[in-house]
Amino acid sequence: MVVKRPPMGWNSWNTFADKIDENIVRTMADVMVDEGYLAAGYEYLVIDDCWSLRERDAQGRIVPNPEKFPNGMKAVADYVHSKGLKFGIYSCVGNYTCAGFPGSFEYEFIDAQTFAEWGVDFLKLDYCYKPVSEQGAKLYRRMALALDNCGRDILLSACSWGADETHRWIKSTGSSMWRSTGDVFDKWSSIRDIYNIQKGIYEYNGAGCFNDMDMLVVGMYGKGHVGLEQGLTLEEYRTHFSIWSFFGSPLMMGSDIRSADDDIKAILQNRDVIALDQDSAYRQPYNVNGDPDVWARHMDNGDIVLAIFNMGDNGRGYFIPFSELGLGRASGRGLEIRNLWTGENLGVKKELITGGVNAHETVLLRCKVVEVG
Ligand code: GAL
Repeated sequence: MVVKRPPMGWNSWNTFADKIDENIVRTMADVMVDEGYLAAGYEYLVIDDCWSLRERDAQGRIVPNPEKFPNGMKAVADYVHSKGLKFGIYSCVGNYTCAGFPGSFEYEFIDAQTFAEWGVDFLKLDYCYKPVSEQGAKLYRRMALALDNCGRDILLSACSWGADETHRWIKSTGSSMWRSTGDVFDKWSSIRDIYNIQKGIYEYNGAGCFNDMDMLVVGMYGKGHVGLEQGLTLEEYRTHFSIWSFFGSPLMMGSDIRSADDDIKAILQNRDVIALDQDSAYRQPYNVNGDPDVWARHMDNGDIVLAIFNMGDNGRGYFIPFSELGLGRASGRGLEIRNLWTGENLGVKKELITGGVNAHETVLLRCKVVEVG
């Protein structure tokens, strides 16, 4: 299957880890629909690690833990589908998952068949306990082949954390997204580190196989499995969401959206920012004026989006001459500018824009090319 836009959804790991069960999945499905997340584009509900028993059954099939999922996985998938959502599950290319449950190594075809029978639409496939003699590329290709032949469209989400130069081989495998970094945590340095890694590999992102910067921590505020201390500030969550969207990462929420307040919902459901993530052109971003934190990306409808990420601990300025963006004086064109976080219309600028950005803040400007005479 060819996936044209970065997948969006919710994944159980960041908040629940091994405390995941049928009731939580049902409640999350309800919340995704009732609180407007599905309407904003979040369509996959994904159960991460720790959903199965420690042993396969006599036929070699993986078995959902009956204490957590007493009605089996098909019933869960049916409920998720009944809400208009898609259903995702988790396994691993190795002998075990990262938490020690059965992995899919040499069970790829039987697992793909089982997942198809349950109604799975999305498979996150981790990289733990991979036999050292086996190449990651070969194992992802093997599962993709099994999925391509299981009779159901199941999106493959590779999770090899960027290891073994994943970017060099992932597009040979049939994965639709690939984890390009190690695990995210709900602290500022984690967001900064993932951004810095992305600076070296964003060229590999594109329709069909998206760089996955890991699940969002927006709204965790230090709670849950990957929550640390106080988590991020609201401003920092905005920057986190801006980076993921500007670079076109899958947007998989990881916080407990049952208790998201209006400020957090306003981030996760900001249609203008989500539209950057979901832009159909997927043109590569580029740095403006050689500044490593000032970026531009040209959109499918002819607009230009400018992003200024202030990852530093002091305020900073920016200065963007439009000639850097392809609009010389001879063009007779300027930019009509809107700030996507404040909603403020900055009017039409002829030759350049300047401004300031607070510490840890992001300014996102969507610019329409207009005649200026
Ligand atoms: C990690 C993975 C996390 C989560 C966890 C489950 O390897 O990066 O996103 O899936 O395993 O054990």
